[in-house]
Amino acid sequence: MGQPMTNKVIVTFIFFISVLVLQTESIQPPFSCDSNSVTSAFPFCNASLPISQRAKDLVSRLTVDEKILQLVHTAPAIPRLGISAFQWWSEGLHGVSKSGRGMSFNGTIKGATQFPQVILTASAFDENLWYRIAQAIGREARAVYNAGQLQGLTLWSPNINIFRDPRWGRGQETPGEDPMVVGKYGVAYVRGLQGDSFEGGKLKDGHLQISACCKHFIAQDMDNWNGFHRYTFDAQVLKQDLADSYEPPFKSCVEQGKASSIMCAYSLINGIPNCANYDLLTTTVREKWGLQGYIVSDCDAVNVMYANQSYAKEPEDAVAATLKAGMDLNCGSHLKLYTKLALEKQKVQESDIDRALHNLFSIRMRLGLFNGDPGKLEYGDISAAEVCSEKHRELALEAARNSIVLLKNSDRLLPLSKNKTSSLAVIGPNANDSKILLGNYHGDPCNNVTLLQGLQGYAANTMYHPGCNFTNCTFAAIDEAVDIAKKADYVVLVMGLDQTLERESLDRTELGLPGMQEKLVTAIAQAASKPVILVLMCGGPVDVSFAKDNQKIGGILWVGYPGEVGAAALAEILFGEHNPGGKLPVTWYPKEFNKVPMNDMRMRPVSSNGYPGRTYRFYKGPKVFEFGYGLSYTNYSYSFASVNQNKLHFKNLKVNKATENCSVPNIAVSDIGSEVCNNAMITVKVAVKNQGEMAGKHPVLLFLRHSNTVDEVPRKTLIGFKSVNLEAGCNTNVTFDVKPCEHFARANKDGSLVIDEGKYSLLVGDEEYSVTVFV
Ligand SMILES: *[C@@H]1O[C@H](CO)[C@@H](O)[C@H](O)[C@H]1NC(C)=O
Ligand SMILES: *[C@@H]1O[C@H](CO)[C@@H](O)[C@H](O)[C@H]1NC(C)=O
Ligand SMILES: *[C@@H]1O[C@H](CO)[C@@H](O)[C@H](O)[C@H]1NC(C)=O
Ligand SMILES: *[C@@H]1O[C@H](CO)[C@@H](O)[C@H](O)[C@H]1NC(C)=O
Ligand SMILES: *[C@@H]1O[C@H](CO)[C@@H](O)[C@H](O)[C@H]1NC(C)=O
Ligand SMILES: *[C@@H]1O[C@H](CO)[C@@H](O)[C@H](O)[C@H]1NC(C)=O
Ligand SMILES: *[C@@H]1O[C@H](CO)[C@@H](O)[C@H](O)[C@H]1NC(C)=O
Ligand SMILES: *[C@@H]1O[C@H](CO)[C@@H](O)[C@H](O)[C@H]1NC(C)=O
Ligand SMILES: *[C@@H]1O[C@H](CO)[C@@H](O)[C@H](O)[C@H]1NC(C)=O
Ligand SMILES: *[C@@H]1O[C@H](CO)[C@@H](O)[C@H](O)[C@H]1NC(C)=O
Ligand SMILES: *[C@@H]1O[C@H](CO)[C@@H](O)[C@H](O)[C@H]1NC(C)=O
Repeated sequence: MGQPMTNKVIVTFIFFISVLVLQTESIQPPFSCDSNSVTSAFPFCNASLPISQRAKDLVSRLTVDEKILQLVHTAPAIPRLGISAFQWWSEGLHGVSKSGRGMSFNGTIKGATQFPQVILTASAFDENLWYRIAQAIGREARAVYNAGQLQGLTLWSPNINIFRDPRWGRGQETPGEDPMVVGKYGVAYVRGLQGDSFEGGKLKDGHLQISACCKHFIAQDMDNWNGFHRYTFDAQVLKQDLADSYEPPFKSCVEQGKASSIMCAYSLINGIPNCANYDLLTTTVREKWGLQGYIVSDCDAVNVMYANQSYAKEPEDAVAATLKAGMDLNCGSHLKLYTKLALEKQKVQESDIDRALHNLFSIRMRLGLFNGDPGKLEYGDISAAEVCSEKHRELALEAARNSIVLLKNSDRLLPLSKNKTSSLAVIGPNANDSKILLGNYHGDPCNNVTLLQGLQGYAANTMYHPGCNFTNCTFAAIDEAVDIAKKADYVVLVMGLDQTLERESLDRTELGLPGMQEKLVTAIAQAASKPVILVLMCGGPVDVSFAKDNQKIGGILWVGYPGEVGAAALAEILFGEHNPGGKLPVTWYPKEFNKVPMNDMRMRPVSSNGYPGRTYRFYKGPKVFEFGYGLSYTNYSYSFASVNQNKLHFKNLKVNKATENCSVPNIAVSDIGSEVCNNAMITVKVAVKNQGEMAGKHPVLLFLRHSNTVDEVPRKTLIGFKSVNLEAGCNTNVTFDVKPCEHFARANKDGSLVIDEGKYSLLVGDEEYSVTVFV
């Protein structure tokens, strides 16, 4: 059979299909703007026209009933216009995930690379690593889409709420408690997913690999605690805290990351549900920050305004409140059910719907889904071979290795020597479960490997006992566990939490280890011949003061939920094949912190009633481990090699008198002007030396502290971080550009950013360098 005949068959076949498409509306086009169909002649299919013009053309062709159906996460096909169906709800928090509605692992692709849970990856303090992870996930997601197992290209990740309270079950999903770190994570992650370059600015005409979504806007960092539920919680947030704690990550995400979406949260803020807040969604996000993209509600957040919050009197009032506020897409079905009624009662106008649809179809167009067969376009050639590739496994391993935090290492117990360790006892319910390593919002992994399997092979003999029946450890088999501990050279206890103890919709009510874990650990440490090693697997911090103070517990490591390759990373660190360098991205509070009401959103302490404040920036109380804490197998020394200026003069500006209690005079950042701001930039060069005998990757954290220690002013603020690789005995210089208008600023009570006069210290390790601000 010759070539021509084959072509003829294909042409006839295509003709036949085209006729069918035109004749029957029940056929669902597999993609929009099929060039073989007459619908491809519509302007909205013309890729040479501006997206905005195409979106406008498309929306103008829809009937009201067609429009309404497009306002929810499951958008049906519109066959008469050759428009395919679209599933908006997919997730990719730390790997292509099953948590949304768009993804299935039931075809040729059976799993995707599951990177460490975000809270662990944050500990590497490495923006480029975060970017590369997102880039890998973005490509895997495209590959899964190309294989027909993902029904959309919009991932509702990252989660960039600050980890405000240690009990939050979703704190594990976040990059920690510092707004600057969270913002930088968000920017790196969004750029990676969307196909932008690391520095940003690569995306031509806003063309997207994947659409990323920054959530949950805003101040939603409590799920279900002591009768307070995210559906009905009315967060009382001060303008001051909004300006310098809650908003900055979202601002960066939109302005620098160019995120193509944000998600509005369930909860209310100062009496107004987030998805009905015009000031926040339209004035701030769309107009001030310039969001180019769509705003989606958290799932059912529109319905809860009526069903739970009594904010909407009638169901259609929730439709009106959200569409008028600037929300574009309802995850859920409320808008599908009640928008018609809202129109009939004239509570919304068709133009409100058109605005939303314009934003929605623009995204689908920017994803390249209205340019004909996506398989033949950019990203269409990303194949299934990229999913679970060796390259991505290596990246997941790198992430876990460089993020695991060494919290204690008495008498240099670690690393263990491979040669000298003849037997190892591994004890703990978390050691023999591969799924626990993934945290939440995961997909099916490429491989299932438990920590126990990772450690087997490092010692001649590895014994195992779960110690507790379940992670909650309501029952501990102390005697049996002690028996095997006594027989072993070294003991590794794998304890902590799991998703039955901290997750979405479940905040913790205690800060210690659950059930009998502490008792078990202490008994084993007492009985073992040598000091034992405690490995903590958890997202939120736990109070392990008992272990910190117990001399028979020689080593403590925090592994977060280290992802599918976490076992290899832990084994490499325990046995000295890798030098740990991670640093805590959250404060580890003592158990007494549990008396602080989780629903109190204030960041700053309140001296009059003993409220201690939150996060290392404001918290006044005792800590188990500090933000930024983490050891390694070597010591690093720091010194300020050079600082180009140590006096900043901001003259001839309006000076705000010291009105707040014990505060000092200050000036408004908005009065300074960009030229003076730029001139005020301080170039700080820090010399770092690896004084030990082992190479290591080491994050250098630069903090700023004001000499005035009042509650208004942060106790210290992280102003820069950079990770360096240093061979044993080697040194390098790390340069930070400190921008006073950004880094020296704090919010005052009315939410405007100000710079206080007076003495500041730049801090790196124990080194200090003084800088004075004159106003
Ligand atoms: C697409 O739009 C461009 C620019 O307006 C125009 O020149 C071209 O003819 C259009 N293509 C089709 C197929 O209509
Ligand atoms: C895979 O699962 C999806 C969603 O449940 C379903 O629509 C699809 O038909 C399934 N595919 C196969 C090959 O079973
Ligand atoms: C929200 O309302 C629904 C319907 O009335 C109810 O079933 C659900 O329990 C409520 N949830 C909360 C957290 O109040
Ligand atoms: C320890 O084991 C390594 C291989 O893992 C081997 O190269 C080395 O010679 C051994 N050292 C001793 C002292 O036995
Ligand atoms: C680990 O758990 C699996 C079941 O999930 C069990 O079959 C296996 O025996 C356990 N391993 C050990 C060493 O107990
Ligand atoms: C991992 O374990 C899950 C649950 O036991 C199983 O469904 C899946 O097939 C396993 N994946 C691999 C790659 O072995
Ligand atoms: C826990 O496991 C032990 C055996 O290790 C068993 O005897 C006991 O009944 C279990 N307890 C619970 C509450 O499941
Ligand atoms: C402990 O965890 C197991 C397994 O998740 C669960 O069945 C049990 O109810 C839990 N016990 C308590 C007291 O929470
Ligand atoms: C690092 O320095 C401290 C204090 O000088 C010392 O106690 C510790 O043993 C050193 N650690 C390493 C790994 O060199
Ligand atoms: C000012 O702060 C101090 C110490 O924090 C406190 O004792 C005093 O009551 C405060 N005064 C006012 C007016 O708030
Ligand atoms: C670090 O900077 C100092 C001061 O500028 C310079 O003397 C030194 O050579 C630099 N060290 C390295 C390793 O570049």
